[in-house]
Amino acid sequence: MQAAPTPVGGRTVLLIVCGGIAAYKTLELIRLLTRAGLRVRTVLTAAGKQFVTPLSLQALTGEKVYEDLFSLTDENEMGHIALSRSGDLLVVCPATADIMARMAAGLADDLASTLLLATDKPVLIAPAMNVRMWDHAATQANLATLRARGVMVVGPEIGLMACNETGPGRLAEPPAIAEAIFRHLAEPAIPGPLAGRHALVTAGPTHEPIDPVRYLANRSSGRQGYEVAQALAALGARVTLVSGPVDLPPPTGVTLHRVETARQMLAACRDALPCDIAVCAAAVADWHVAAEATRKIKKTAGALPPALTLVPNPDILADLSTPGPNRPALVVGFAAETDTVEQHAAAKRLAKGCDWIVANDVRPETGIMGGMENEIILITGDGAEQWPRMGKQDVATHLAERIAAFFTPDFSSGRSIS
Ligand code: CTP
Repeated sequence: MQAAPTPVGGRTVLLIVCGGIAAYKTLELIRLLTRAGLRVRTVLTAAGKQFVTPLSLQALTGEKVYEDLFSLTDENEMGHIALSRSGDLLVVCPATADIMARMAAGLADDLASTLLLATDKPVLIAPAMNVRMWDHAATQANLATLRARGVMVVGPEIGLMACNETGPGRLAEPPAIAEAIFRHLAEPAIPGPLAGRHALVTAGPTHEPIDPVRYLANRSSGRQGYEVAQALAALGARVTLVSGPVDLPPPTGVTLHRVETARQMLAACRDALPCDIAVCAAAVADWHVAAEATRKIKKTAGALPPALTLVPNPDILADLSTPGPNRPALVVGFAAETDTVEQHAAAKRLAKGCDWIVANDVRPETGIMGGMENEIILITGDGAEQWPRMGKQDVATHLAERIAAFFTPDFSSGRSIS
């Protein structure tokens, strides 16, 4: 097999393993993909489980194996919609006659079929089945439907099959499937209006240690910042995401730096400069503990609880907004407020020296902090705009488009905010 034509490392493949005697070959496929630097997440169908074990997939990928549509644990960690979009490419291997029929019909009665219906990512299938099943008019019609919808197909090969019949239906060899995957991933992304621009995004909370086991934190989920990073990348920007501790999958096509404290976040942001755009969506803790204990602080009977002395953290947004040769052309801050949102946010924009502020009302009853939706006021030098309540992904898309229009005034996605 040839090596990957151009570097594909750092990308993610979501591999759906269905039930067929050829399923064991996916283990070799995973090895080829991970050796090329790809991250592989696997989904195992109930039938697939009869041929390969979740344990072998987990051992080879180093990742959790997803199996159930209705698993509360899985949904808690990552919803099935997020999972369907968490890879750069979905690969079905082996693709049985059954999964092809269910894909063609648009069924969504298990995790694999639901992901294939919900995804907005390209899909590649590697069919494998008995020759008569492959030749059947139903399978051939399904194949034509899938191809017409843009599904890529590798194989099957002609040869002797496990059922002792000869003909087309044998799974393509893992190196051939790997090559098709490499070829697809190496194709240059469609250049967007932010192509050639570098965007820095901060996201999530920071954790400020008290002692080796305790820390100060806040309720930020990081979702809005991750969505902004993804939306900027989708418009062609090279994106560096500096993230505090969150439970979110890394956005695709984005360079992720994980940090814990505000001081580490500032250092990572400075390291990422120069950039054209900075979006500070992180809920940075305002203070850290003056003297972090190196050992766990113990209770002493009868003694008063320890007093924590807090000292201010650096202000990352203000730091990035400071005029100088490295100041990004556009600095966007967020303002989390619980009262007089617009006034507080407008004052924050001036105090921090950023260009735009995305203000939101984080009173607990709004459900915004840690939730899926957001309702924002965008404050720029030209005034304030109230946006209707919408999903955090939509907020991110509209914000990224506004940023694109800042750099390319005649850019328009044709989408209005309503
Ligand atoms: N921010 C930052 N560094 C800090 C504090 C805040 O970069 N140490 C950024 C946030 O990422 C956000 C903006 O500043 O873009 C405003 O954050 P917010 O928490 O709303 O305001 P604070 O500056 O913390 O002010 P206050 O707590 O008084 O509202």
